[in-house]
Amino acid sequence: MAPSALQLSTSPHFSSSHSSFFDIGGFTITRQSKVFLPSRRASLICRSSSTEKTGTPTYTTKVPRNANIAKLNAGYLFPEINRRKSVHMSKYPDAQVISLGVGDTTEPIPEVISSAMAMRSHELSTFEGYSGYGDGQGDKKLRAAIASTYYGDLGLEESDVFISDGAKCDISRLQLLFGANVRIAVQDPTYPAYVDSGVIMGQTGTFQKDVEKYGNIEYMRCSPDNDFFPDLSTVPRTDIIFFCSPNNPTGSTASREQLTQLVKFAKENGSIIIYDSAYAMYISDDSPRSIFEIPGAKEVALEISSFSKYAGFTGVRLGWTAIPKELLFSDGLPVAKDFNRIVSTCFNGASNVAQAGGLACFSAEGLKAMGDVVGFYKENTDIIVDTFTSLGFDVYGGKNAPYVWVHFPGRSSWDVFAEILEKAHVVTTPGSGFGPGGEGFVRVSGFGHRGNVLEASKRLKQLFK
Ligand SMILES: Cc1ncc(COP(=O)(O)O)c(C=O)c1O
Repeated sequence: MAPSALQLSTSPHFSSSHSSFFDIGGFTITRQSKVFLPSRRASLICRSSSTEKTGTPTYTTKVPRNANIAKLNAGYLFPEINRRKSVHMSKYPDAQVISLGVGDTTEPIPEVISSAMAMRSHELSTFEGYSGYGDGQGDKKLRAAIASTYYGDLGLEESDVFISDGAKCDISRLQLLFGANVRIAVQDPTYPAYVDSGVIMGQTGTFQKDVEKYGNIEYMRCSPDNDFFPDLSTVPRTDIIFFCSPNNPTGSTASREQLTQLVKFAKENGSIIIYDSAYAMYISDDSPRSIFEIPGAKEVALEISSFSKYAGFTGVRLGWTAIPKELLFSDGLPVAKDFNRIVSTCFNGASNVAQAGGLACFSAEGLKAMGDVVGFYKENTDIIVDTFTSLGFDVYGGKNAPYVWVHFPGRSSWDVFAEILEKAHVVTTPGSGFGPGGEGFVRVSGFGHRGNVLEASKRLKQLFK
């Protein structure tokens, strides 16, 4: 009989593996190396451990690795930042490391929202309140609330809204929808999930080290020189244009005039814009909060969004994608119809508990509570902007977004990241992790407890004075 996971994790016979799974039982490699492993099964485990040591496999399956995954240049950016943070913490176990890096939220979920989830959760323990699989497209009431309360008079209908378990998950489902044979354009720099999911999908060529770009992706450079909006006259046609505003990482927001240009450009080229509005509620000037504010956008755009950065749902997981009926493929079929097919096949709908929380977000109290959360992070962002501005840096973003984009001309962003971590024990994000256009910048996030942001500001002032 095969040993159970528990037996494996606690039996000294099998504890010589280096994997963290086998470390669960508390057996360290040093202790394990002294253990004699007489059985055949044990020696198999032992051999796989030697693979990790030497890099020479002694046993492999016959399954070829997905060649597209093999194209990925590096691990996903944020786990890599966390890895470096962990290494730093082992080096300085007494340091109080402050993370203004990966962009995770830190404020508790407002009570009005968490109590709705608690209530829904309790209902699930009753015969009357129990429900299992829901509508794969999402709870009708939540979809209706998004269409009417979030989009207001923009003309979106409940049936246009697909509830998701987060915007990132829908980015990959959208890649599946459009398939391997489309060409994509992305802002450079931008949120890395668009590029990485495109690579995994097989839309791209290999990574070209000299230019730090994948083949067959159109990188639309966004820098202070062009007000972080691409010069569309130089951008060739692509099928799909990923566009994120307010932008992660630069914190820049496209104006109405710029988005009007983008919609016109997409229409002329017959392209589809995937508009990521995960930070729209951070906008405090009159920049559009939705691409659908632009006349004609419904024929060329769909929009993804998220509760993560408004309601602290990074762990709860809830978002949505709005696909207007007017958005059609070249054969005249609605994009939403195929997305429905993807969702029914690859997803069984968002958690009913999370959706109850989402509905509470759109109550009057929920909207006020989300406004307060966003306002709090924006105050943090102001502190960060003031810190770097007072030190004489060129600072961008921050106004309509929880991200501050700081320029360190002529320096490698990984070097700046390493220096700030080493000397101030503050985690930031190197700009080049968001694309070659991010080189020379670091992103500093406004997500953090106020005390930590103030302390980070003090240390940064000390470091760069
Ligand atoms: C631009 C952008 N889109 C999507 C996401 C992911 O959102 P979610 O937590 O809903 O998956 C993030 C998260 O940082 C983001 O910055």
